[in-house]
Amino acid sequence: MAGLAGRKALVTGGSRGIGAAIVRRLAADGASVVINYRNSAEAAEALAAELDGDGRRVRTALADVGDPDAARALVNRAAEEMGGLDILVSNAGIEHFGPLASLTFADYQRVFDVNVAGQLFATQAAAAVMGEGGRIVLTSSVSARIAVFEHSLYAASKAAVSALALNLAPELAARGIAVNVIAPGGTRSDMSAENGGHYIHPALRGLPPETLSRISSAWGRFAEPEEIAAAVAFLVSPDASYITGSTLAVDGCRM
Ligand SMILES: NC(=O)c1ccc[n+]([C@@H]2O[C@H](COP(=O)([O-])OP(=O)(O)OC[C@H]3O[C@@H](n4cnc5c(N)ncnc54)[C@H](OP(=O)(O)O)[C@@H]3O)[C@@H](O)[C@H]2O)c1
Repeated sequence: MAGLAGRKALVTGGSRGIGAAIVRRLAADGASVVINYRNSAEAAEALAAELDGDGRRVRTALADVGDPDAARALVNRAAEEMGGLDILVSNAGIEHFGPLASLTFADYQRVFDVNVAGQLFATQAAAAVMGEGGRIVLTSSVSARIAVFEHSLYAASKAAVSALALNLAPELAARGIAVNVIAPGGTRSDMSAENGGHYIHPALRGLPPETLSRISSAWGRFAEPEEIAAAVAFLVSPDASYITGSTLAVDGCRM
């Protein structure tokens, strides 16, 4: 239970959804956690109030990680607040669907700013303040390796994340820091509730949500956020000491 006692973590986009489950899991494992949020101040504060105590500190920090300066400043503020940083879970991300003909450069910039630059520059700042034993987990998606109608921007942004981690791994290993990626499949959250229907080919749209979740994985259901958090907890634990540069699919064998 207390495998992460004394460790100091930052979770981006930790206010709700998968990020909130990761915050809960790291805190349950004994870590002190800074919960980053962009809009959901109330949810972030409530989560921090619930988890703070029992030998760990849980705090909140407002930042739009889509702004590289803000992402770097967030990491530095978290490290200052906690007296160091051992774990970065870069979870914040945004969805996007749109046909090629209507894509704008502004769409591209926003998606890549949050999903790629946000993760890269948070990693850069985290690596600078972490010591030996530091653990960084980035967030990709099953979308990086499946074709979905009108999903090119999001899928490309998530594919970039695995290449980032793979190529940063040797650089960071030299300093004793591991960098890995989780690639969730359909997972119960606000994001999947809003966008899940788009994952179906247009010819099949209109299927009830329970049908969508039944056909999305070998398990016949979406993942629970806690199941993604468990994979993150493993990757930041001593049990994962040899794993770096890897992308761990947590998608129930997406079908
Ligand atoms: N759910 C799925 O099926 C699924 C599948 C594969 C991958 N993923 C990935 O998993 C991650 C979490 O997804 P989710 O389903 O939990 O999403 P969600 O329900 O939409 O929650 C997104 C979280 O990210 C935060 N966020 C978004 N943009 C941000 C920004 N610019 N700066 C700081 N925080 C920001 C939000 O914070 P605020 O509310 O404070 O704005 C919120 O906490 C994302 O990277 C997503 O791409 C999800």
